[in-house]
Amino acid sequence: MSAGRPSPQPPSGFVWGVSTSAYQIEGAAREDGRGPSIWDTYSRLPGKIAGGDTGDIACDHYHRYREDVALMEKLGIDAYRFSVAWPRVMPEGRGAVNEAGLAFYDRLIDALIEAGIEPWLCLYHWDLPQALQDSGGWTNRDCAQWFADYASLIARRYGDRVKRFATFNEPSVFTLFGYCLGGQAPGIVDRAMLLRAIHHVNLGHGAAIDRLRAAVAGASLGAVHNCQPCRPATDTPEDQAAADMLDAYWNGAFPDPQLRGVYPPLLTEAMAPYVKSNDLAQICRPVDWFGLNHYSPHYVVASDRNPLGLWFGAAPADVPRSSMGWPVEPDAFREILTTMHKRYGLPIYVTENGTANPDKPQPSGEVPDEPRIAYLAAYTAAMFDAIDAGVDVRGYFVWSLLDNFEWGSGFSQRFGLVYMDYQTLRRLPKASFQWFAEVIKSHSASSVPTV
Ligand code: FCB
Repeated sequence: MSAGRPSPQPPSGFVWGVSTSAYQIEGAAREDGRGPSIWDTYSRLPGKIAGGDTGDIACDHYHRYREDVALMEKLGIDAYRFSVAWPRVMPEGRGAVNEAGLAFYDRLIDALIEAGIEPWLCLYHWDLPQALQDSGGWTNRDCAQWFADYASLIARRYGDRVKRFATFNEPSVFTLFGYCLGGQAPGIVDRAMLLRAIHHVNLGHGAAIDRLRAAVAGASLGAVHNCQPCRPATDTPEDQAAADMLDAYWNGAFPDPQLRGVYPPLLTEAMAPYVKSNDLAQICRPVDWFGLNHYSPHYVVASDRNPLGLWFGAAPADVPRSSMGWPVEPDAFREILTTMHKRYGLPIYVTENGTANPDKPQPSGEVPDEPRIAYLAAYTAAMFDAIDAGVDVRGYFVWSLLDNFEWGSGFSQRFGLVYMDYQTLRRLPKASFQWFAEVIKSHSASSVPTV
């Protein structure tokens, strides 16, 4: 928080939470009838994941969820955002339903509710069933309907206990890296495939919102977007154009059609061949909130290394970085919260924010992680500055509860408030866990209703 200012007060009802995702923590990849996902396939391709890691075991959350819910209870969070693994509940992505997989999420949801923690369920955090990929995945227009059918299943099964649903986690990230820039499943590098995937994911979002709304009384619905200011790495016109183009794909390609019924001007022409007459009306369905994930700004350069003609350049030399190499700039968080509030006017939940650090347990079992505490303190202060300036932020979720499978970085990058010993699967709360618990406690104690 800014020096010399009284401690900021979150608005009444402010939600404090943590986020995870299925493939990154669950493990049990071949148990109880779970089908393979594109990440099971991709992580086995030589050279794709640091250390050759996979999510086969990850944090073994599938078996240890009770211990993890107990950690959340200790942390004092109001809400837990997790994702359902589509191939765990529909092994082929459509058709047959896997009762054992559905029962796992029943147990998890019930344990959360018993602990006084509200479940926030995300339908899709990147683990498309491999069987659907074999039929074209998101490049096939039918995938939107397969996704809607899966949404109906989830709504019918859990809608009595779960009211908060997000359709997709970070559609811009998984489409850009999975279909054009490389580095993520399914590993396609092709601009036309990217454009198709963008449109079909958007159609899936709209269809799923309609299904959730129809099936769940009192549903509160949204999508989760990764939003990062896109700045040119130099002042050349080429880098400026590349930054504008990345901004259109990264920050606009999903929120614009979903919330305004249009593609960003820089993409209109490229998207036109895929957009049928009623599509934008079907994509732009009423939602209740905007899920915003943020880590750092992008510094963009023009580059011919991929079909989009852009790449990620270096931040100015004086900007500190996390162990991921991501710039640490809390003011960019304040900036993007303000931009998205002005652009879309929806209540915002910060559904992910956090940092990676090379944490190591001491012989005592303590895990000091001062850089993470400094990051979270600076970023929550920036969020409070935005709130003070009128931005409607209603909640904040740390990424992540546990160290976990960090996609292409495997287990080499640690984002957790809790340290994972991947040999023993022992969980050790870090210093930041204590810090966040105190933040939550002090805010709930001092939170006064606003009138
Ligand atoms: C986000 C992803 C999440 C995690 C964090 C570090 O882009 O949504 O799964 O990998 O980055």
